[in-house]
Amino acid sequence: MKTAIVTGGSGGLGRACAKALIEDGFRVGLFDMDTGSLNEAAAETGAEAFVVDVTDEPAVLAAMEQFGAVPDLVVNNAGIGRFAPLLDMPIETFRLQLDVNLVGAFIVARAAARGMVERRSGVILNVTSINAITTGPGSGSYPASKAGLAKLTEMMALEWSALGLRVNAIAPGFIDAGLSTPFFADPAVRSLREQAVPSKRLGLSEDIANTVCFLASDKASYINGHQLVVDGGVSVSLLTQLPREAKS
Ligand SMILES: NC(=O)c1ccc[n+]([C@@H]2O[C@H](COP(=O)([O-])OP(=O)(O)OC[C@H]3O[C@@H](n4cnc5c(N)ncnc54)[C@H](O)[C@@H]3O)[C@@H](O)[C@H]2O)c1
Repeated sequence: MKTAIVTGGSGGLGRACAKALIEDGFRVGLFDMDTGSLNEAAAETGAEAFVVDVTDEPAVLAAMEQFGAVPDLVVNNAGIGRFAPLLDMPIETFRLQLDVNLVGAFIVARAAARGMVERRSGVILNVTSINAITTGPGSGSYPASKAGLAKLTEMMALEWSALGLRVNAIAPGFIDAGLSTPFFADPAVRSLREQAVPSKRLGLSEDIANTVCFLASDKASYINGHQLVVDGGVSVSLLTQLPREAKS
């Protein structure tokens, strides 16, 4: 049976990924530090729960050991979004965001990659954000953490591909789940955002889960070192916001 570890597995996107991977025949371990929602997510999805902070390397190595297998797939999905203007953002918050979103992903990826390299197979998927390619106001260190993870994805692919691994990133756009849920609770914000997306809808956690399943599968065997944007087209729509002289 194929095995997968999904970090941040008790959150909105992590849960959807776990469900979809289990449907695809994976045994799934959820790595998350939120004990309450982790147990709930495990019960809901049928995945196994491991309480672990991805920024703590010894804890990650111990959880990997407890999982009992070198995973075929790692989905580095754990992340935090602490938004504040740069002039006001406490340095602890700035650092924490880099630590969880970037360093944590590296710790988990490397912990798995050492075994994957020995076996000569494995897939690593890093969940970034459209903030990795386009910044938003008041986003603090979040875009830098995600852009860093996108570049780290390329670096991992460069170093580990010849050793049998495939490494890609997935950049979600406006997803109606997880850390964006409070944001979209405001009907005015929700409607404006929906209209701004060329596909005219917010994304679903299943849109990301389906992308994970595709990139994890052999159907994506020649896709490597790539960041796949899953955003209904919003990140390429900037110029539609600007006035332009109408010409026939
Ligand atoms: N929801 C969106 O609109 C959206 C858009 C773009 C990118 N993303 C990215 O998708 C990923 C999942 O986000 P989500 O929306 O499901 O958010 P979420 O808050 O529902 O889930 C994130 C999970 O990560 C866990 N986590 C946080 N710090 C951790 C740590 N140090 N160790 C282990 N687990 C930790 C949390 O406990 C939580 O369960 C994140 O990386 C996020 O940046 C989300």
